[in-house]
Amino acid sequence: MKSTLTRTLPESSSPALSALTQHAAEARSWALGDLFKQDAQRAQVFSIEAAGLLLDFSKNHLRHDSLNLLADFARDRGVETLRDAMLAGERINTTEHRAALHTCLRQPPNTSFLFDGHDITADIQAVLSRMSSFAEKIRDGSWKGYTGQRITDIVNIGIGGSDLGPAMTCAALRTYAHPELRLHFLSNVDGHATDALLSVLNPQTTLFIVASKTFTTMETMRNAEAARTWLLQHAQPADLAKHFVAVSTNTDAVREFGIDPVNMFPFWDWVGGRYSIWSAIGLPLLIAIGIEAFREFLAGAHRMDEHFRTAPLGSNMPVVLALTGFWYRQFFGTTSQLIAPYHEDLHLFPAYLQQLEMESNGKQVTRDGKPISMPTAPVTWGSVGTNGQHAYFQLLHQGTDLIPVDFIIALKPAHPYKDQHKALLANAVAQAEALMCGSGSSSSNGSDATLPPHRVFAGNRPSNMLVLPALDPAALGALIALYEHKTFVQGVLWNINSFDQWGVELGKTLAHRILDELNDAAPITSHDSSTANLIKRVQNALKS
Ligand code: F6P
Repeated sequence: MKSTLTRTLPESSSPALSALTQHAAEARSWALGDLFKQDAQRAQVFSIEAAGLLLDFSKNHLRHDSLNLLADFARDRGVETLRDAMLAGERINTTEHRAALHTCLRQPPNTSFLFDGHDITADIQAVLSRMSSFAEKIRDGSWKGYTGQRITDIVNIGIGGSDLGPAMTCAALRTYAHPELRLHFLSNVDGHATDALLSVLNPQTTLFIVASKTFTTMETMRNAEAARTWLLQHAQPADLAKHFVAVSTNTDAVREFGIDPVNMFPFWDWVGGRYSIWSAIGLPLLIAIGIEAFREFLAGAHRMDEHFRTAPLGSNMPVVLALTGFWYRQFFGTTSQLIAPYHEDLHLFPAYLQQLEMESNGKQVTRDGKPISMPTAPVTWGSVGTNGQHAYFQLLHQGTDLIPVDFIIALKPAHPYKDQHKALLANAVAQAEALMCGSGSSSSNGSDATLPPHRVFAGNRPSNMLVLPALDPAALGALIALYEHKTFVQGVLWNINSFDQWGVELGKTLAHRILDELNDAAPITSHDSSTANLIKRVQNALKS
């Protein structure tokens, strides 16, 4: 495969892209340190504040003219038009003929939004109010299990968007959570996970939330069945209603599973799985933090939506975040991006972004089904700092790949250990400086230039720094909305439908077929010899 530096221009080449391509050839020779020397105001000028968040994107290979050219390209690709179409409820998910209206879920309660001639804000608020009163009963102990005891453990059974959002946000807002409730997340169909969890839970005090947009996902249904069997080993079928609720768009399947739709919290097909934390899928978070904090979470996201809707492209935080990512992917040959939150409670944020960005934009055809001749979504990966520094940061500093980093810090801690917090933030800021400035080379920060080669840090490696005032519900809402819109904008730049995920379907179909074969319900046919041998081997092992 050709590197992105030498790849021929996309067929969809435009004057804006040609100008950008020419400019990028020059930009690749810039030293970040020199850009700072040339402009004393650089840090201020290349920073954006929105919805309480600060994005400092000054440590990127960008000048004013670069930003203008990128904004021209974004305009040319229709970022503003498609943004407005998405926010207006047009069916921009063309392969599924669906709108993408997750932004409506966080609109203030006293507004209205007509979709297909119907005010969906009223529906949204009605579900939210049901979720809130249910959550309150769990929180105040008035919802009782089958022996009359209060609920102490809540298990969310779901996967992908029906797991990562609730799991990530509950971890992130741990310090806001009800002190007597324990939240658990069962996603993998691996029985080891099911066994490890069920073996420590008390059926009398456990509530299961079966969360699945489709209510057909294999992993979720198997785990939900296992949980139901486990409960019925202790309780009567009539008791199930006290211990199982559902979150879904599929009422019939919920009823068929044995959950009364009275205990179901619905959402709608215009909410994509990976954009669903704002819907009833957020029920575990609402139970954990209560309705007031949940509303702050929604309001933080709404503030970012408003910024995204109104700010000019060049000073629009999600647009600029998208453009910096596009810049390196398209013109600098990068294949991955690191997400490095310097906050332990954001430890699931990189995994959350993996689904958001890679499932949305890991595509090879355009919205109209033509091959895309640009590289699309890079690999998103990461983990919390400072741990990563003692594992893989070596490669970031001295490896042969250029890997742009998004550092995320929160200024105020939610703990009393001030010295640790200072050390944590010092490390985040230091890593960004070290990546950019290096040492012992021509782009050095003035360090000893006689260092042996293995001690040289070439530097000139880009990063963004995202600064949250604190990891509170509003800031978390804004942070997630920021990355949602970044993902959307990149999809527009690549001319992708970011709201479908057909690439996961083949594996699901084959897994069902192989499961039938393992169950002897179907003959082992039409596989390559490797797959057929593996199926036989598993089948024999399971028989013995
Ligand atoms: O397989 C991918 C996927 O469809 C995701 O897009 C989705 O978030 C996940 O599976 C779970 O789907 P569901 O909520 O329907 O169980």
